[in-house]
Amino acid sequence: MEKIKGVGICGSPRKNGNSATIMKYILDGVKKAGGESKIIYLNDFLFKGCQACKICAKNGKCIIEDTLTPVFDTLFEAKIWVLASPIYYDSISGQMKLFFDRCRWLTWVDGEMKPRLKGKRRAVIIVTYGDKRERKEYFHEGEKLAYYLSWMGDFGDVKIISEGGLMDEKDIYSKPHVLKYAEEIGYKLAKELI
Ligand SMILES: Cc1cc2nc3c(=O)[nH]c(=O)nc-3n(C[C@H](O)[C@H](O)[C@H](O)COP(=O)(O)O)c2cc1C
Repeated sequence: MEKIKGVGICGSPRKNGNSATIMKYILDGVKKAGGESKIIYLNDFLFKGCQACKICAKNGKCIIEDTLTPVFDTLFEAKIWVLASPIYYDSISGQMKLFFDRCRWLTWVDGEMKPRLKGKRRAVIIVTYGDKRERKEYFHEGEKLAYYLSWMGDFGDVKIISEGGLMDEKDIYSKPHVLKYAEEIGYKLAKELI
């Protein structure tokens, strides 16, 4: 039987930062359930945002050819997507926003707005932030991405992890319960798809 593939899409420039660490624990959970995983560090890629050319609405494919183009093969294969982003100025990071805009072509099939990704998938969206107060609007940043994932494929009930008080890179280790939950959720989601 083919192994369940998980992909981590890291929108932080900090490869060992808070959001990336939570993401890795989720992917560890996927591996514990017998799956495999790959990480895309968006900051390593030089790529353009959506050009609003609308050609994908007609031919179903993004015409931009750049370093992000081969990443879509990984995204098509992965049944579990884990999107990780810091909050920068009350929003997801620029890297994540640019990536998300480039996924626009995944919302078009044969000239109609329909999910292009086939089959059942699962997703977790992680947002981390410095503010020690619970910020509902930051959770909402995650909810927005979850909503738009539903335009691309059948991701079911997307999980959102929104954690504050995480200013320095390693702050997440002061919240072992979050990391435990992350690993458990990765395991559970992979098992759901097996
Ligand atoms: C450019 C920049 C803007 C930021 N803006 C906010 C903000 O608006 N609200 C907040 O609570 N934290 C803000 N932060 C703090 C980060 O969200 C926080 O350190 C986050 O946990 C970083 O995630 P990472 O470790 O995965 O990179 C900002 C940090 C940077 C570098």
